[in-house]
Amino acid sequence: MSESILDMKRTDMCGTLREGDVGKEVTLMGWCHKARDLGGLTFITLRDRSGEIQLVITPDSSEQIRSKASKIRSEFVLAVKGKVALRSAPNDKMPTGKIEINVEDLRIISESETPPFYIEDEDTANESLRLKYRYLDLRRPVMQNNMILRHKIAKSARDYFDEKGFLEIETPMLGKSTPEGARDYLVPSRVKQGSFFALPQSPQLYKQLLMLAGYDRYMQIARCFRDEDLRADRQPEFTQMDLEMSFVDCDDVMEVTEGFVARVFKEVLDIDVELPLKRIPWIEAMNRYGSDKPDLRFGMELQDISEWAKTIDFVVFKDAIAQGGLVKAVVIPGGASFSRKEIDALGEVCKTYKAKGMAWVVPAQTARGSFLKFLKPEDISALASTVGAGADDLICIVADKFKVVHDSLGQLRIAAAQKLDLIKKDDFKLCWVTEFPMFEWSDEEGRFMAMHHPFTCPMDEDLDHLESDQGNVRSKAYDIVLNGCELGGGSIRIHDRDLQMRIFKLLGFSEQSAQEQFGFLLDAFKYGVPPHGGLAIGLDRFVMLLTGANSIREVIAFPKVQNSSDLMTDAPAPVAEAQLEELGIKHVEASYEDDDNDNLVMD
Ligand code: AMO
Repeated sequence: MSESILDMKRTDMCGTLREGDVGKEVTLMGWCHKARDLGGLTFITLRDRSGEIQLVITPDSSEQIRSKASKIRSEFVLAVKGKVALRSAPNDKMPTGKIEINVEDLRIISESETPPFYIEDEDTANESLRLKYRYLDLRRPVMQNNMILRHKIAKSARDYFDEKGFLEIETPMLGKSTPEGARDYLVPSRVKQGSFFALPQSPQLYKQLLMLAGYDRYMQIARCFRDEDLRADRQPEFTQMDLEMSFVDCDDVMEVTEGFVARVFKEVLDIDVELPLKRIPWIEAMNRYGSDKPDLRFGMELQDISEWAKTIDFVVFKDAIAQGGLVKAVVIPGGASFSRKEIDALGEVCKTYKAKGMAWVVPAQTARGSFLKFLKPEDISALASTVGAGADDLICIVADKFKVVHDSLGQLRIAAAQKLDLIKKDDFKLCWVTEFPMFEWSDEEGRFMAMHHPFTCPMDEDLDHLESDQGNVRSKAYDIVLNGCELGGGSIRIHDRDLQMRIFKLLGFSEQSAQEQFGFLLDAFKYGVPPHGGLAIGLDRFVMLLTGANSIREVIAFPKVQNSSDLMTDAPAPVAEAQLEELGIKHVEASYEDDDNDNLVMD
């Protein structure tokens, strides 16, 4: 059945009516959330984007209305005309709970099959089912709120940056490979067979060229594409709030960015963020938190115990120190009560991050630990006083190279905080991490790589040892970090062609390969370059953190799953041979196996 509503015009949205509207004649349209027939008296909850309201059909209603009402099931689309009335039994849980609509005209616009899951806030359905029927999942009020919040943040960005004199300028989707470091998504050219566009990993090069072109203060809400392994905070296509400014240094970009972040916190959550945000140099973040995106909501900082370890005759410590590594500890308050199994689980966290193992001690009267036979009682008390641990605490120790010690203890710190329930979702701690290393050694590649990207400007103080001490050059790069998540990152760029060529050389580019990859940028650099810098905030991550969602999939209308596919449309999908032929592409036997959908939404 599908009834015409040509003679009806919606007057109000369901969730906006209140007590003050009593007596008003309204026309509403929406979905039936629930229909209950109490023998002659039918209650229907009507839902639209703004909320829900109760409709009542009484034994006094016309026979035609009562008969139609008896057919209505969940998710039918209805149009209704009626009068707003006070409810005899108010429902405090509904914003419209004091009123109801006495139905005078009722039309069934569209029927619905029984949906595969019930449309309600609690996600009772598994995520792969929700994603297959995403259009139903998106009807859930919690998802609608996420989308509304996302819209508000995007609007707030446009307003804020407009007020600050930024111009929104679009950059191409079909472009050349950019240097963000992930794998590109490629688009074959039909006209130039064998050649490919790369979808942008970010608008990085274009926004730098816009600065060169004199469009000081650019912003864009930009779609980015990166073919990389997915995690809870990563999608193959995502959105950045991207900006670039001319004639600036780090402070200017950071100031304008934190002003924006603070404004969103105020507008969306009514939280006052204290500015300026704390700035932590990268080396300090690593040393204290074992992470370049420290979660500042709890303590348990890493402590260097190398000096103490040197006094212990334990080969694991001795070897690590002899090989230029170090020994560090994390004290878990109250951790003495952990069972052996719980302590082993923390050891496993360390092993995931390449530690060979985790040593531990409980410095109680009768000490417990994994390497007690190497420790005299005075060693244990010296350790306890060095790290400030008591008899109730657990001291976890990793000895290894810098990266392994920090990665593993940094993750252990988070795992322990989760276990002790120290992380509160509605507590927000922001900071900047600055002075990143310019280069990062890659064992895989056997060479230094750019930690941010090759256009990042080294710190002036470190220019003199660029070639002689590459590992210790810091850059003018900065990340804004919210609750242990990298919300955004950026840098001041190199605007001097000679310095750019020096950096390319240090990154192993020959003059020719640099020219091949970034020739258009290098050519542009011949024509007057303003000093410039910028940053990009991950919009999806920002919305995820503000809504307390567990994954960015919850704040993206149509997200992808683990293997980068879309469970609703089944994209990517094979295409017709003729289409491939036209593009000059030959098909090779598929080299993947079909995945089990339920395994595709685990993080
Ligand atoms: P970067 O690569 O650090 O910098 O990216 C900036 C921010 O984008 C978000 N982000 C992602 N969000 C979801 N899924 C992903 N796969 C993903 N990758 C990145 C993060 C990150 O902090 N062009 C530079 C910016 C600049 O230098 O101005 C850039 O893209 O929140």
